Amino acid sequence: MRIPFVAGNWKMNKTVAEARELVSTMGAGLKAVKGVEKVICPPYVSLLAVANLLGGTDIGLGAQNMHWEEKGAFTGEVAPAMVKELCKYVILGHSERRQYFGETDETVNKRVLAAQKHAIIPIVCVGETLDENKSGQTAEVVRRQTLGALQGVDADFAPSLVIAYEPVWAIGTGLASSGDNAQHVHGQVIRPVLVELFGPETAEKIRILYGGSVTGANAAEFFSQPDVDGALVGGASLKDDFVAIAQAAAA
Ligand code: PGA
Repeated sequence: MRIPFVAGNWKMNKTVAEARELVSTMGAGLKAVKGVEKVICPPYVSLLAVANLLGGTDIGLGAQNMHWEEKGAFTGEVAPAMVKELCKYVILGHSERRQYFGETDETVNKRVLAAQKHAIIPIVCVGETLDENKSGQTAEVVRRQTLGALQGVDADFAPSLVIAYEPVWAIGTGLASSGDNAQHVHGQVIRPVLVELFGPETAEKIRILYGGSVTGANAAEFFSQPDVDGALVGGASLKDDFVAIAQAAAA
């Protein structure tokens, strides 16, 4: 009943010209994949060019972050209304934002509430570091981040939420988690938090993605798990492999 969801996080890669070229290369392959919600998230400066290429297709566009304020003196930031004009989705709370740009559960929550206000679908990222994993704190950290990010979200907006479990140690390392571990965190940690916040019926509707070194070769292992509803893909989203991942989600 949950439609599989595959999003490509391009991070700080591709110029506008390169972004156009990449969309042209993989666009046809992605369009051919049916029954999966497909999203690409290029850097801000390429959003308009990519929006123009994706118009009229079933491939969605997302930003990689946004500020919570409506407008004003926030040099370098991008406001929700600016994102909304071009994008249906926004990635929020990515571990790289938390690690390098000082984002906290509280600022992630402000962004999530701004997304709700502007009816932008947030892809909310949570996940433990290697140290937290090794010291057995995974459940506690993921629970805290999920609860923190979703404070104040309305029950009627909740079904459109997308949560991405991305263990930090698996991001960009080539060391993906296992399907069993992802299922455990999704099914035993994140979904129960969603039940607590929104009740069982709504919690069943919310997609929970796995992210961290997903490739065309390992995607099926994750997608075969009952609580893994798709993937947030970094490195492999810059290649044709992203089409293979979308195909695995459709299978
Ligand atoms: P990766 O990144 O697929 O390159 O590991 C995932 C992410 O950071 O969203």
